[in-house]
Amino acid sequence: MTQNELKKKVAEAALQYVKDIPVIGVGTGSTVNFFIEMLADYKADIEGAVSSSIGTTERLKKVGIPVLDLNAVSDLKIYIDGADEVNPDKKLIKGGGGALTREKIIAEASEKFVCIADETKCVDVLGAFPLPIEVIPMARSFVAREMVKLGGQPVWRENFITDNGNEIIDIRNLNITNPIELEKTINNIPGVVTVGLFALRGADIVLVGKGNEVVTL
Ligand code: A5P
Repeated sequence: MTQNELKKKVAEAALQYVKDIPVIGVGTGSTVNFFIEMLADYKADIEGAVSSSIGTTERLKKVGIPVLDLNAVSDLKIYIDGADEVNPDKKLIKGGGGALTREKIIAEASEKFVCIADETKCVDVLGAFPLPIEVIPMARSFVAREMVKLGGQPVWRENFITDNGNEIIDIRNLNITNPIELEKTINNIPGVVTVGLFALRGADIVLVGKGNEVVTL
């Protein structure tokens, strides 16, 4: 199967998790885009969705799913989203598409986080994919220097502004053996809005498209 076929397969497998759930959280990215397309047939069951990006909001509206403000939703049962890297403990790197901050808020606010990924995303140790960090623009160089002290190689994602009006630096060269500690450390650097490590709140379930099947972690 091609990577896109695997993405479609895991997107389809995620549909069973949103059955009879009126309000769902929806992530961002090419895998989730397949999920949104498939949701179109399910919309009778869905009252609305909380969206993790402007791009996802547009796609949800296009298939007729009302988009709800997280402030108006007190009970979010499920969040469906992709990932850039997944380790065996279901800790993730996310933010390749730049939507990490809203994704992290919704993941944390949700009872269950179902991650959908093709097998190319699975790694033993996180860090081969550059770790995205959303920063307040004036803190960009400062945060980059702090990341050098932690052994990383920061690269500014030039000409990219997040949905929240901030900038992103991508940190290469990290071998993330203790994702929870690293997430806490980076969270403590002034100027960091969000680090794309989803370890304190990883996924509850990961659906991996592998070969011809979907494996559940
Ligand atoms: C968006 O910012 C990311 O966190 C995505 O969830 C991640 O990059 C996965 O995207 P794909 O499904 O396009 O690989």
